[in-house]
Amino acid sequence: MGGIRFGSAFGEEVFSDQAYADLLAQECAELTLENAVKFDWLRPHGEAADFATADRLVDFAVKHGLRPRGAALIWNDYLPDWLSRLSAREVERVFDRHIDENVGRFAGRMAAWDVVNEPFYPPQGETGGLRSGPWLTAMGPSYIERAFRRAAAADPTAELILNEAFTEEASELGASVRSRLVVLTDELLQAGVKLNTIGLQGHLKPEIGVAHAAYGQMLGQLAQRGVALAITELDVSDIAFAGNIEAVDQAVGAALDDFLKTAFAVPAVRTVIAWHLSDRYSWYRGTEWYAEDLRQRGIDPAREPRTHFFDSALNRKIAAQVLSDALKRGGKDAR
Ligand code: XIL
Repeated sequence: MGGIRFGSAFGEEVFSDQAYADLLAQECAELTLENAVKFDWLRPHGEAADFATADRLVDFAVKHGLRPRGAALIWNDYLPDWLSRLSAREVERVFDRHIDENVGRFAGRMAAWDVVNEPFYPPQGETGGLRSGPWLTAMGPSYIERAFRRAAAADPTAELILNEAFTEEASELGASVRSRLVVLTDELLQAGVKLNTIGLQGHLKPEIGVAHAAYGQMLGQLAQRGVALAITELDVSDIAFAGNIEAVDQAVGAALDDFLKTAFAVPAVRTVIAWHLSDRYSWYRGTEWYAEDLRQRGIDPAREPRTHFFDSALNRKIAAQVLSDALKRGGKDAR
């Protein structure tokens, strides 16, 4: 459709929820493992990894003819406590092992890897605005290049992605991450590492809004570098919207439409991945801040999230229509 490939995040629910598994198979061309190949999920108690769930999920995708995508190979967040008790040299060794085992295991089958996830988080005050965590502490900024080189060696065929959050935001954080991401892309390309795609998460926050001109400009700058672009984690926070379900769905759909017009105006954007298809699996439910944000706005924190494309009963919502219309236009008619 319009040359833009569509997919979704998925997890173990596909083994117990046949209706949702069928929906994924019907709607998607690509499936991102939501959590199963992340460090903390593979190695919660120590170095030895348990790949049983990841293996089953990759098999599920392949069996349905969908491209499996690995998420957050290296991320300075969601790491187990035991890692921070190791020396810097030990952390380096575990870092290499994690990449070699994980990428190596799925070589030739995992179509794409988010090699480094969320490299930046300037509010933490680290040099260069980098996200703090054990990888940065042990290796400094060079962990990023090291991860790409190692991943490329472990699987020379996979599409390698640098993935980042906040880049569409009309905020100081958004502006800072946008400019840093372009610089980092240049540095990696100049260093000669294999970097195929810049992934932009797209967890939209209508309460902050999209910096349309600046976001479009960043997409254009990245495209000029010759990398492909992907929206890797699309969904829409609904905390800004009070009122009944119809009103919330309308507002979510409008915010999505507004964003996609800018994103799809750039031909280098070739892939869009929803961070799940249905409100049934909205990750916002599991976060610490979602219910609190609703409460602060005087909205019932137990309200059903309307953050995704199909409702909890798997009925299409306005957001699904907006998305499918945008995919059909494929950017031709965009802002
Ligand atoms: C989230 C998952 O959806 C949750 O199930 C998990 O508890 C935490 O991670 N940005 C990312 C994703 O890069 O990996 C995150 O996924 C959502 C935010």
